[in-house]
Amino acid sequence: MKNYRHYLLQKSWLIGVAIGGLLISGLILSGLIHSGETTFLCSSASSRTRTMAEYAATPIQLQAIVHYATSKIVPQQSLGEISVTFDVLKALAPCKFLVFGLGHDSLMWNSLNPRGTTIFLEEDPKWVQTVLKHAPTLQAHTVKYRTQLQEADRLLATYRSEPYCSPSKAYLRGNYKCKLALTGLPDAVYDKEWDLIMIDAPRGYFAEAPGRMAAIFSAAVMARARKGSGVTHVFLHDINRKVEKVYAEEFLCRKYLVKGVGRLWHFEIPPAANATTAGGEWFC
Ligand SMILES: C[S@@+](CC[C@H](N)C(=O)[O-])C[C@H]1O[C@@H](n2cnc3c(N)ncnc32)[C@H](O)[C@@H]1O
Repeated sequence: MKNYRHYLLQKSWLIGVAIGGLLISGLILSGLIHSGETTFLCSSASSRTRTMAEYAATPIQLQAIVHYATSKIVPQQSLGEISVTFDVLKALAPCKFLVFGLGHDSLMWNSLNPRGTTIFLEEDPKWVQTVLKHAPTLQAHTVKYRTQLQEADRLLATYRSEPYCSPSKAYLRGNYKCKLALTGLPDAVYDKEWDLIMIDAPRGYFAEAPGRMAAIFSAAVMARARKGSGVTHVFLHDINRKVEKVYAEEFLCRKYLVKGVGRLWHFEIPPAANATTAGGEWFC
């Protein structure tokens, strides 16, 4: 009996301490929040709302969490490869991110650039429909390529004889003379300066596939034309393949290669105006 009374006394003392602790922590926390809001963060109600909105998850991020938590299909790039781009996005987002290829990674790339602009370019219109059925808010455009993988060697050997493929004259919109220029992109792509360009498409594993030659050349032209500050980050996947490797060396340049992880190369390409070869004859 004595033991039981002692137990009850001890229990009510513990409950008292717990309630007291909660009240004190609540007061401290509300004081901290209040002082944080007024002194460290922002002084006005509207900027407080903005700060909270900046950190709130976007609808597509919430959709991505549910999608990847319930899907057995994962993106093809490895964690190490994805992390290279993720590190740059963490530093630059919200930013302008152009992605060649629509795939199981699209929802992820879009979510890693919250409140930024992420546009996907896809060769296969049926695949666009399939992906958009599940993720209708992705911005995706179908692209027609004028090349085939089997032309890669010839194009590399001959492009220098076409003046409109030269770095000083090359442009993209309507540059039909240079077969490596992507001429049929939407204005939304031409009219922006892209901070990041991911090249993980089009397909380049059979002779009649478009190959990545034009995507690589066009990324180099876009990066060199940048007028804004900073560099263009270009990520190229599948560099274990010959065409990706030799076109990267010709147009994206070894000297701009900053990282290689698995089958992914990361280049930081300065605007031509700042490049050491500015005004030079060729790209690298
Ligand atoms: C190498 S894949 C890029 C895959 C992407 N990185 C991913 O993780 O899913 C490049 C191209 O393959 C095609 N592709 C990828 N997955 C596909 C699928 N499940 N069905 C049809 N085409 C697909 C698309 O044309 C895409 O642009």
